[in-house]
Amino acid sequence: METTINQNMVSTPRIGDAAPEFKAVTTQGNINFPDDYKGSWIILFSHPADFTPVCTSEFMTFASMESRFAEVNCKLVGLSVDGLYSHIAWLRTIKEKIEYKGMKDVEVKFPLIEDISMEVAKKYGMIQPGESNTKAVRAVFFIDPKGVIRAIIYYPLSIGRNFDELFRVVIALQTADNFSVALPADWRPGDDVIVPTAGSCGVAKERMENKNGLTCYDWFFCTKKLSQDKVMAEIIKK
Ligand code: BEZ
Repeated sequence: METTINQNMVSTPRIGDAAPEFKAVTTQGNINFPDDYKGSWIILFSHPADFTPVCTSEFMTFASMESRFAEVNCKLVGLSVDGLYSHIAWLRTIKEKIEYKGMKDVEVKFPLIEDISMEVAKKYGMIQPGESNTKAVRAVFFIDPKGVIRAIIYYPLSIGRNFDELFRVVIALQTADNFSVALPADWRPGDDVIVPTAGSCGVAKERMENKNGLTCYDWFFCTKKLSQDKVMAEIIKK
């Protein structure tokens, strides 16, 4: 059987992979990714096109939240398959003309990569031909300070991202690392966290006898308290 390889379908990095390396021209100068960002968390995200409404609403939101991401040691890097001058013109328009949901005079200070050749977009599986052959989907890669991809979210062209969720994922990844815990559905800082599952019959018994100060819903599902202050202190200290 013959297999057709679609040129646009190159690779899609997976969770746990090293973030693919690239050099790029951006609205903030040249970057060498991810080396320039070692030691920081990174959100690398793509958007379909400059001068489009959903993307404009997203950029204004991201730019307005940039200082919050910086507080949790997370840098933002955007990408679309437009050219540098289009990027510059669009970001100038956003700052000078667009007022949206109380946001105005918004300056996008994080780098926006020009990727007309789609080299980076293809490396990261941001071109998904079922959605578009010419525009990147709304991909979000969460990359840790060692350059490892830790979470990936994709949205289609027509739906703007939920920025509270993007921020929550950054905090959650760091909390899972800092405290060696897992985080339940809809977790937010201050909510109880999940401790590693009992690894022996003895520990399972102890937990069910309520000897560890944990809250156990069954032997394999136990939580403990972790205050919002502790979560944030650990992140901000790093
Ligand atoms: C937008 O950002 O509004 C958009 C971009 C590409 C396709 C559809 C919507």
